[in-house]
Amino acid sequence: MTRAVITGWGKCRPPLSLTNADLERLVETSDEWIAERTGITERGLCHMETTDMAEVAARHALAAAGLEPTDLDLIITCTLTPEVSCPSAACSLQERIGAVNAAAFDLNAACSGFVYGSVTAASMIAAGAKRTVLVVGVEKLHFLMDYRDRNTCVLFGDGAGAVVYEAIDDPADSSGPGVLGTDLGADGVSGSTMVVPTLGSRGELTSTRDPANSRLHFEGQAVFKIAVRGMIDSVCRALDRAGLTADDVDLVVPHQANERIIRAAASRLGLSDDQVMLNIATHGNTSAASIPMALNDALDTGRVRPGDIVVFTAFGGGVTWGSVVLRWGDRVERLGTSDAALDPVEVTVDELLAKNREFFAPLYD
Ligand SMILES: CC(C)(COP(=O)(O)OP(=O)(O)OC[C@H]1O[C@@H](n2cnc3c(N)ncnc32)[C@H](O)[C@@H]1OP(=O)(O)O)[C@@H](O)C(=O)NCCC(=O)NCCS
Repeated sequence: MTRAVITGWGKCRPPLSLTNADLERLVETSDEWIAERTGITERGLCHMETTDMAEVAARHALAAAGLEPTDLDLIITCTLTPEVSCPSAACSLQERIGAVNAAAFDLNAACSGFVYGSVTAASMIAAGAKRTVLVVGVEKLHFLMDYRDRNTCVLFGDGAGAVVYEAIDDPADSSGPGVLGTDLGADGVSGSTMVVPTLGSRGELTSTRDPANSRLHFEGQAVFKIAVRGMIDSVCRALDRAGLTADDVDLVVPHQANERIIRAAASRLGLSDDQVMLNIATHGNTSAASIPMALNDALDTGRVRPGDIVVFTAFGGGVTWGSVVLRWGDRVERLGTSDAALDPVEVTVDELLAKNREFFAPLYD
């Protein structure tokens, strides 16, 4: 039997922060409302491109695993904000880091992307098709935000997170490390609750981009309910397949959509605060990037110990959901580090968002 173990992890939190105070200047909102309803105080804003963030996270993850880019045999990039449709974000990353031995493809399951990517990687490793897989979650969500729409723009941030999954042959039994149980699901019937109408082929070739169809939109309360129920049921199914219960869980690293969603799901699963990783306060909702970024922070703050049962769980547009249950290996420290970083920031928040504000302005005339 072969199982997938995480051996490397890295993230890229853009240095520029959009704070609640900045948002108070842009829309009719308050730091108090945002903090109470979402748990967010600031979120990253990327002054570069998706591939730049993915590269930084990937180089940190490879260094942590003690691997070279040429050791990879597959790159899966999970994103709903690729720079272009083709070549894929994964192929751009492969070229950037020189991972010449890796196959590469993108996967879009919105905020569930990293979990879908992890299940794909673990399944391919278990099947013997691949042995060393880089899974990256990366999003430049500010591109899709209308910074005059207070319902959406306070929630989302930019960023990237990456992990390396490696094959481990003949792990003892369920007491050995690696992915032990998974769950994936979707409900297209509820797809209209979260939409990004642009960035697709719908419509006439000659039509210009319409601001009304170029921004992320969701039905907040509907999504809230789907998210809580979806994550609870999915975690239970994945734990069941692993032969475990919520009592066995050391740390859940959930998709960081809203602190209240996470707390509601955690309390119904009977989990205490120290069993749940939260970093939404400083990152916001980074969609497919949120779990690998939170995992990175969990490792950096000693929240993961050797042999721990760790659970990833997410829900997102589509709608989609999924969970991964794994036993961490022996190592919680990086084998090496990388000095990869985004270029120094030479713009202000207002300068970076100026074009966006201008584009969506006609909706408010
Ligand atoms: C969006 C969300 C934070 C709203 O929280 P909520 O408690 O459900 O708030 P409501 O929708 O009931 O809105 C309450 C009021 O606050 C207002 N409001 C919305 N955004 C606001 C903001 N940024 N500042 C101040 N007021 C705001 C609403 O207009 C509404 O006013 P009204 O009662 O006069 O109509 C919450 O529903 C949520 O997080 N949903 C999930 C969204 C999501 O994560 N989508 C992506 C999934 S991956």
